[in-house]
Amino acid sequence: MVDLKTQYENMREEINRAVLEVIDSTEYINGPAVKRFQAELEQYLQVNHVIPCANGTDALQIALMALDLEPGAEVIVPAFTYVATAEVIALLRLTPVLVDVEEDTFNIDLEQVRTAIGPRTRAIVPVHLFGQSADMEPLLQLAEQHRLYLVEDNAQAMGSDYRFSDGTVRKTGTMGHIGCTSFFPSKNLGCYGDGGAMMTNDAAMAQRLRMIANHGQSQLYHHAIVGVNSRLDSIQAAVLSIKLKRLEQYNANRRRAADYYDAAFGEVPQLRIPVRSPYSTHVFHQYTLVLREGDRDALRQYLAERGIPAMIYYPIPLYKQQAFAGYWAGGELPVTEYLCRRVISLPMHSELNPAQQDQIIEAVKSFFK
Ligand SMILES: Cc1ncc(COP(=O)(O)O)c(C=O)c1O
Repeated sequence: MVDLKTQYENMREEINRAVLEVIDSTEYINGPAVKRFQAELEQYLQVNHVIPCANGTDALQIALMALDLEPGAEVIVPAFTYVATAEVIALLRLTPVLVDVEEDTFNIDLEQVRTAIGPRTRAIVPVHLFGQSADMEPLLQLAEQHRLYLVEDNAQAMGSDYRFSDGTVRKTGTMGHIGCTSFFPSKNLGCYGDGGAMMTNDAAMAQRLRMIANHGQSQLYHHAIVGVNSRLDSIQAAVLSIKLKRLEQYNANRRRAADYYDAAFGEVPQLRIPVRSPYSTHVFHQYTLVLREGDRDALRQYLAERGIPAMIYYPIPLYKQQAFAGYWAGGELPVTEYLCRRVISLPMHSELNPAQQDQIIEAVKSFFK
């Protein structure tokens, strides 16, 4: 699905040098490499504060801890997402309220959010799924109107731009009260292990997030609040600094690969190519097709037999996962159900070339012949 080896080969010298420098420095935790990367990401995202942490799931957890919500408070999340988004809500003894998504963009459906808001609702966590921003402007208005927190899960859309109706452009992850991201190796901006970060423009919130990620202290051995231990290590930060310089190029490569797939699959009546929303650029963390007709699992099997990987993101609605059974009152979310049965993601990464794509395209098309 990804080709991290070729990507590394293209910058091997630079990476090796940077990693060895960190090892040589012995400043493995919170060293200058972390501070440098933090400042570079703030600059790139045009956000006041980036708070690095150990992974994207921690970023979401720390963000929700920082909101200091009462037990049982409701947090609205899409049912069609990676488990981490809802997991941290349940972990903190809050109540995930799973809502349906839009069929075309796969992102949280504004009207479903509106309907789900009740007296115990405290926050909304939209996910910028597969590389494209949720429609933030109306969501921000809704959040403000109901005095709700808005926490963005930007694990899959690093580098994507959202355009407001007045023409203002903002990076995903910088529009809500807090943005969260993951630097898992296969992400658009990924390191060589685990990593994550939170983003905010609010100085007081930044201070709180930083404290929670560091055992609730801002002064050594003075623990003002209950926190966790969640750090981005210096080696990962050094790798991320090198890859951040290339992120725009990586995302352009992904878009070019998506265009190439689109041109081939646009004419296959059984397939729906990814919809690009007018308010967001798409950074194609995933290239996800919807099978209008035909057996999706048979297609995946057919591709596997020809040595072509394909993944199902996501096969089961979150409310049907055993772990979340307690939050499900019954009743299905029709779009989530439909997508879980019909989506298939093809190989997508910054090193994908037309020759590889031709092979994939040929195999997919031959399935429908
Ligand atoms: C939408 C979404 N949220 C959260 C995460 C969690 O990130 P991590 O794996 O770094 O904990 C991921 C990625 O794995 C993700 O895709």
